[in-house]
Amino acid sequence: MEEPAVIRIFDTTLRDGEQSPGATLNIQEKLDIARNLASMRVDIIEAGFPIASPGDFEAVRRVAEDVGRAADAPIIAGLARCNKADIDRAWDAVRPARHPRIHTFIATSDIHLKHKLKISREECLARAAEMVAYARSLCDDIEFSPEDAGRSDPEFLYQVLEVAIQAGATTLNIPDTVGYTTPEEFGALIAGIRQNVRGVENVIISAHCHNDLGLATANTLAAIRNGARQVEVTINGIGERAGNTSLEEVVMALHTRPQFYKARTNIDTTLIARLSRLVSAYTGIPVQPNKAIVGANAFAHEAGIHQDGMLKNPLTYEIMRPETIGLSESKLVLGKHSGRHAFQSKVAALGYDLNGDDLNRVFERFKELCDTKKIVGDADIEAIIVDEIYQPMELWRLQHVQVSCGSGLRPTATVRLRGPDGIVREDAAIGTGPVDSVYRAINRIVQAPNELTEFSIKAVTEGIDAVGEVTIRIEPTNGGNAHSEPTLTQTGPRRRTYSGHGADQDIIVASAKAYMSALNKMLTAVKAETKA
Ligand code: KIV
Ligand code: ZN
Repeated sequence: MEEPAVIRIFDTTLRDGEQSPGATLNIQEKLDIARNLASMRVDIIEAGFPIASPGDFEAVRRVAEDVGRAADAPIIAGLARCNKADIDRAWDAVRPARHPRIHTFIATSDIHLKHKLKISREECLARAAEMVAYARSLCDDIEFSPEDAGRSDPEFLYQVLEVAIQAGATTLNIPDTVGYTTPEEFGALIAGIRQNVRGVENVIISAHCHNDLGLATANTLAAIRNGARQVEVTINGIGERAGNTSLEEVVMALHTRPQFYKARTNIDTTLIARLSRLVSAYTGIPVQPNKAIVGANAFAHEAGIHQDGMLKNPLTYEIMRPETIGLSESKLVLGKHSGRHAFQSKVAALGYDLNGDDLNRVFERFKELCDTKKIVGDADIEAIIVDEIYQPMELWRLQHVQVSCGSGLRPTATVRLRGPDGIVREDAAIGTGPVDSVYRAINRIVQAPNELTEFSIKAVTEGIDAVGEVTIRIEPTNGGNAHSEPTLTQTGPRRRTYSGHGADQDIIVASAKAYMSALNKMLTAVKAETKA
């Protein structure tokens, strides 16, 4: 039997994913995600766009140093436009890695050449050749991307790719930057490149698809069927506009249908669910319930006829087992009489490595929840872990919140916070609703002008006693003590936003925690920028 081809997984959650509207990750969060990606055995981590800002440079460098040095570390890539300043900056950021890569790109479609870059095709060819050669003089591993390849003239694309190979590119990445192509077209584009570009047999062909028409995964799989051996993906499919191809969809498609695709990956699929949750918490981008693989309903069977079939044999309606992606309601059922040791085993079974103070805090919260909730399941425990552990540095700490509201009453909140100076302050405010009054009272103390741009709330489990999870996003609004420079992305400058998350059975408390989490993230970033 023919050996399946190995598909390299190039994860760009930290670069293209972070270009999602509203997703801003700080260095600690990027490192956490990168560590998890490495444990999951992705082949390449694109850690960022180092020229974008000093923070982005630092984040890529830290990923290269802290995650990219181990003996079995993935390749660490940094993005650069086709110019010397970008390439130098990218090289400085990735060079501490054991396996560094420079990923350089230039647009090749006539629309981009004429309206964005304002250069001719000849100038584009010359710049690609010169800059790939320059990048190759610094680093042995060079990826070249002709941006908007999906709408480029194929004949011109072949020429650009050929000069990139001659100049030393080792991977040719083919982006459908605006998510315009269909699977048939994108597959044919990859086949055409394999047939028409001289030297292509010596390089890896990669696919990079966006999801504007909901076809990113289909296009990526079509690319694999036509010879692509690297795919560029993000966790939960986050990314510019409608997002990028999602890692979990491609990986599980290959895992579920290996005979059809004749391909496999090196990914440890059991870490998918945990990383999906972490990325959602850190970016503040909730996963839609019906999202393939990682949505809350992806393995839920509602219809009676389906449930009946599932009880008789799961194969009737299930093409994947939930435990393959790390979702298992483990047999160990815990309650208020469970000890710390049993709790630690449960936490470990869920994929989290908690010790010392972290474990104590989560255990205490678990015990409190057992007093008020009938059944405390894995989802509740995970919600507590994410709420307690995956939070930004705590400059301000919520100590107390109390609200009075109801029909005929003006919602009024009192809050008590401990500040970075250790002083405890208390204040009160009236708002349009209970959450608004809490946020106003917090604002009176913290004095960090911002605008709330998103607020979402969801119950972690079913039932009236469920834990509520709140995710919010804020934007700094003026100088004051909340300035924040816009950051550069592949598509232009973008204002920074900060997300926060909080969980509690009381949704007002969860809302207050989420707001403190976003404020702490924003103030920490401002502090770092002021220092730089
Ligand atoms: O979508 C795109 O074209 C990109 C390139 C920089 C690879 O993200
Ligand atoms: Zn992209």
